[in-house]
Amino acid sequence: MAAAVTAAVSFPSSKSSSLPSRTSIISPDRITLKKVPLYYRDASASGRVVSIRAQVTTEAAPPAKVVKESKKQDEGVVVNKYKPKNPYTARVLLNTKITGDDAPGETWHMVFSTEGEIPYREGQSIGVIPDGIDKNGKPHKLRLYSIASSALGDFGDSKTVSLCVKRLVYTNDQGEIVKGVCSNFLCDLKPGSEVTVTGPVGKEMLMPKDPNATIVMLATGTGIAPFRSFLWKMFFEKHEDYKFNGLAWLFLGVPTSSSLLYKEEFEKMKEKVPENFRLDFAVSREQTNEKGEKMYIQTRMAQYAEELWELLKKDNTYIYMCGLKGMEKGIDDIMVSLAAKDGIDWIDYKKKLKKAEQWNVEVY
Ligand SMILES: Cc1cc2nc3c(=O)[nH]c(=O)nc-3n(C[C@H](O)[C@H](O)[C@H](O)COP(=O)(O)OP(=O)(O)OC[C@H]3O[C@@H](n4cnc5c(N)ncnc54)[C@H](O)[C@@H]3O)c2cc1C
Ligand SMILES: NC(=O)c1ccc[n+]([C@@H]2O[C@H](COP(=O)([O-])OP(=O)(O)OC[C@H]3O[C@@H](n4cnc5c(N)ncnc54)[C@H](OP(=O)(O)O)[C@@H]3O)[C@@H](O)[C@H]2O)c1
Repeated sequence: MAAAVTAAVSFPSSKSSSLPSRTSIISPDRITLKKVPLYYRDASASGRVVSIRAQVTTEAAPPAKVVKESKKQDEGVVVNKYKPKNPYTARVLLNTKITGDDAPGETWHMVFSTEGEIPYREGQSIGVIPDGIDKNGKPHKLRLYSIASSALGDFGDSKTVSLCVKRLVYTNDQGEIVKGVCSNFLCDLKPGSEVTVTGPVGKEMLMPKDPNATIVMLATGTGIAPFRSFLWKMFFEKHEDYKFNGLAWLFLGVPTSSSLLYKEEFEKMKEKVPENFRLDFAVSREQTNEKGEKMYIQTRMAQYAEELWELLKKDNTYIYMCGLKGMEKGIDDIMVSLAAKDGIDWIDYKKKLKKAEQWNVEVY
């Protein structure tokens, strides 16, 4: 049986987007998205809205019985279908900058066509092998990227995979500007071009099965990718075997308000299901706490410390963390003092949470 939902994806308007018009999304000679109609419309002055009709088809099944089932033992999860020696050639359908022009650094949202050949789950990653050779004349090594779309994909037909990629540019010790190989390759891709991918990989960030769980998602920058994937499944799609009725709480840390990623989508979700979704931003270069300290994600979390700690004592609360490595220590620091108030050693407690798949971390 099929159910259809309409979701809105909005991207900030950007002069440098490689996808300025609706017609250039799809390479007409090679790409057909026949089964799923796409609607585009102009939105507010602040940006474009691509309205996507997601076609969801699932087998009729009784509502899932709630048992604490390991996400990692799920036989349906595919890993390493494509490896560097036998990679898959995907095609770019869309690539657009989603950070404002004045943001410190660029982040791009891209959709690749997979023809359903990469059967991924929410929370998995894919590998990308950039074109060209390295300084030793060898093909470039693959880089991993968290998948930013739900398993159904942004077009709802299970035939695409989306990524959220930060363009790495830095100045080295010699004062030269260095561009990261793969992130620049990806951000420069034009619709219609080919891209060599591997995967899917990863089980750490798979979603919990319990549809009534509390899921706290902690993201810095592009670490938002797996959570966009979770949240689309929870709130923009209809599945007969999964109806989320718990609490999803997203904390997103970015440098400036012009670097907030997928803000309009998340705000739409909040409007739709205010009782099931909480949304908190930490904008480090524009906001401070009452002590005047920089607003990092852990600074924002500290404002809800007691509430978060109470949630963490429940066995159906799941914490997910993705993004910068540094964030894990900052979050541990606030947890240590909270746990100590109850006479609990945080490091021991965290070990137990990890074992129960309630503490899930993918930082880099
Ligand atoms: C599981 C996983 C998921 C990931 N998901 C994403 C994702 O969703 N989105 C995303 O954008 N990235 C993601 N990454 C990171 C991604 O894999 C790449 O590492 C990133 O895009 C940089 O690759 P690159 O080829 O552009 O840079 P490279 O050419 O590989 O250059 C990176 C190297 O440059 C050097 N370097 C970097 N910054 C500096 C600096 N400031 N000063 C000096 N030297 C520096 C370091 O040596 C670094 O190893 C993920 C990583 C992992 C492990
Ligand atoms: N699964 C993964 O492993 C995975 C997935 C996706 C992305 N990544 C990686 O995650 C990183 C995200 O970077 P980005 O460039 O996209 O992010 P970004 O836009 O620069 O945002 C990162 C935010 O985190 C803040 N921050 C810096 N140090 C922090 C700390 N110790 N604790 C908490 N917050 C801190 C930054 O603040 P200031 O800049 O103001 O200090 C900024 O607000 C990249 O390195 C990316 O490759 C990894």
